[in-house]
Parts: sequence; structure tokens; C-alpha cells
Amino acid sequence: MKNIVVLVSGGGTNLQRIIDCIENGEIPNARISLVIADRECFGLVRARNHNIAAQLIPRGKSFSAELKNALPEHTDLIVLAGFLSILNKEFCESFNGKIINIHPALLPKYGGKGMWGHHVHEAVLAANEKQSGATVHYVNAEIDEGQIILQKSFEIAPNETLESLAKKIHEVEFEIFPRAINKVLGIPL
Ligand code: GRF
Repeated sequence: MKNIVVLVSGGGTNLQRIIDCIENGEIPNARISLVIADRECFGLVRARNHNIAAQLIPRGKSFSAELKNALPEHTDLIVLAGFLSILNKEFCESFNGKIINIHPALLPKYGGKGMWGHHVHEAVLAANEKQSGATVHYVNAEIDEGQIILQKSFEIAPNETLESLAKKIHEVEFEIFPRAINKVLGIPL
């Protein structure tokens, strides 16, 4: 049984998708041992609704150190699912290859500091991109620069709005996130 820790900052629909995939067997032989949020958010409520241990560690300078102390001893994978704090270099290096993140664009484009949530979608639309998508990647000390695990793209419609783009991206995320988790846990796709 693999032990996953999920970090969230927001509504947690990706967390919900992971919970559902574990419950329905799409992600086999795994459990979420802990959900950690860096602020009050609905992601914490989703965890508690499924009797998953959930903890708030307030964002700030000592977040990474406190996270390290809070991690269960046997943690196979740390999944950032809409998580907005930056993990420090020391933390990223000590868990190298064990932390993954989902990003709402086709990295390496539209990543880096300040590129999160609606900021990403606004930039993509402003640049008249023909395509967008989502990327699951390993986390290293450089923001959004770790090795790509899975990516899926789609065509942007001529009348695309921020809302319609965000919705399409979530749908792609719900498809590739469980597959990427299985891939890094060594479960065949
Ligand atoms: C997702 O679009 C993810 O790519 C980004 O933040 C969003 C989180 O959405 N990092 P949710 O909280 O999982 O609904």
C-alpha cells in the first residue's frame, strides 16, 4: 500500500478526484495518509468528509520545516493539488523525485512565479494561443521547472472565455492526474 500526502490551498476538486480514484480503484493499492492545507480552504473539508486526516499549517517562512515534521514516517508521494505556497530548496531536495504538482497550462510555457489559477488562463488568452492544457510534473527548487510526467492539450475555441477555459483545463486535469500518480507509483497505465 502506497501512502500519499496531498497539499491543497483551494477548492480541492483535484483532491476530490484523487479520493474518488482511490475509492473506485482507478488508483489501486494507495491511500491518502494526510491532507495538508496552507490556509483554510474547502480542500480540508473534502478530506474530513472522507475521514482522511487533515491538518492546517499556515503559510509563511517556516511552512516547509513544519511540513517536514508533519509528514507521516512512511510517505511514498507528496502530491500538490492546487497548492499555492512555494516549498523551499531544502525540502525539495530531501524529497527529490517524490513530489509532483499539477499545473493548468502546457509547461514550459506559462509557468513560474505568479503563474497560477486565472493568471495563467488570462495570459494564455491574451497571447491568442491556439492550444492549452495541463501538465503534471516533478517538483524541484525551480518553480514549475521539474521534469514533465504527463501533459495533455486541447484546442482553444475562437469564443473561449476565462470560465470555459478553466472548465476545460479542470477536465483535462481530472484525466491526467490519476494517470500520472499511477505512473510515478509504478502502477501500469
Ligand atoms: C488547478 O487548476 C491546478 O492546476 C492549479 O490549481 C487548480 C486547483 O484546482 N494548480 P482545485 O483546487 O483542485 O479545484
